[in-house]
Amino acid sequence: MTRRVLVAGGAGFIGSHIAEAYLADGWEVEIIDDLSRGKEHNVPSGACFTRLDVRSPEARERVARGRFDVVNVQAAQIDVRHSVEQPAYDADINLLGLINLLEGAGSGGVGRVVFASSGGVLYGEAATVPTPETAPKMPVSPYGVSKLAGEHYLRALAALRGFEGVAMRYANVFGPRQDPKSEAGVVSIFVSRLRAGQALTIYGNGRQTRDYVFVRDVARANVLASTARLPVPDEHDAIGFNVATSTELSVVELAETVGRVLGRTPDIRFEDARAGELQRSSLDTSKARQVLGWKPEFSFESGLAELISWFEREERNG
Ligand SMILES: NC(=O)c1ccc[n+]([C@@H]2O[C@H](COP(=O)([O-])OP(=O)(O)OC[C@H]3O[C@@H](n4cnc5c(N)ncnc54)[C@H](O)[C@@H]3O)[C@@H](O)[C@H]2O)c1
Repeated sequence: MTRRVLVAGGAGFIGSHIAEAYLADGWEVEIIDDLSRGKEHNVPSGACFTRLDVRSPEARERVARGRFDVVNVQAAQIDVRHSVEQPAYDADINLLGLINLLEGAGSGGVGRVVFASSGGVLYGEAATVPTPETAPKMPVSPYGVSKLAGEHYLRALAALRGFEGVAMRYANVFGPRQDPKSEAGVVSIFVSRLRAGQALTIYGNGRQTRDYVFVRDVARANVLASTARLPVPDEHDAIGFNVATSTELSVVELAETVGRVLGRTPDIRFEDARAGELQRSSLDTSKARQVLGWKPEFSFESGLAELISWFEREERNG
């Protein structure tokens, strides 16, 4: 029997790649998205799309009545600064929206829920880098708190309602379709600005590091996590999987690498460090390797080359 998955947020950056990866693996794919940030043209052909808000009764019904094997929740309010300004709005989408879908999954006999969490914000300034799943959690923003709380709702409601839950703790995801205007997309921002001959702005001294994982690797991890045999959820971190490269790249190194690959020397402007910004962030992926049989296949440079080709295609197509 063909397996069925609903991808919430599947018109967005990561969700659309995940939908493609399920389709390539032979799944039937339904997508719901309110298009607040996603775009209908991101929906892959072969997937069925309905415009729905994850907080709506219609979305819960869709999950409950769709005979889905897996529900994959990518839909979220993703802007950290917005969550600081409006924490209630963030929680409304990221927690009440998630709970709404989890309730649908419970009544619809869904086998497993895969949830997009964030390793970048869960651990805060970690003592161990690359950081394992078991590290202390200290999110500093309401967005980070909503991701951690979302994991707890997932684990608790999975046990109460009888489905499995898995939380994908992404590092900094980059690749085609990431909005160069979004604050999360520093790689897209640098590529877009350098191609336009514009200066790059770096906040602080530029030595802060991040772990950049290519979006198609992230999509493959989601598909593997949909069927892999999972550890018994006897403690919170059992449901969590870091999805990353375990490689640290500083912002200055990032700017230089993008410049080298594009054949342009970046004009870098330094501005004051942003309050609350982490100095180091990189995630240990041993668990995903062992349990999911996953490891990243794209180096930063090969992912960057894919991203640049996409920018060129988009420009040609207007
Ligand atoms: N991009 C990253 O580096 C990164 C890192 C860690 C975690 N994440 C998480 O991964 C997931 C996907 O992020 P992304 O970067 O693709 O962002 P995105 O904004 O491109 O995708 C989110 C999608 O959810 C949709 N959405 C938002 N609110 C909705 C609602 N109320 N109802 C229905 N749909 C709604 C948006 O329209 C969008 O298509 C999010 O949960 C995000 O928190 C992303």
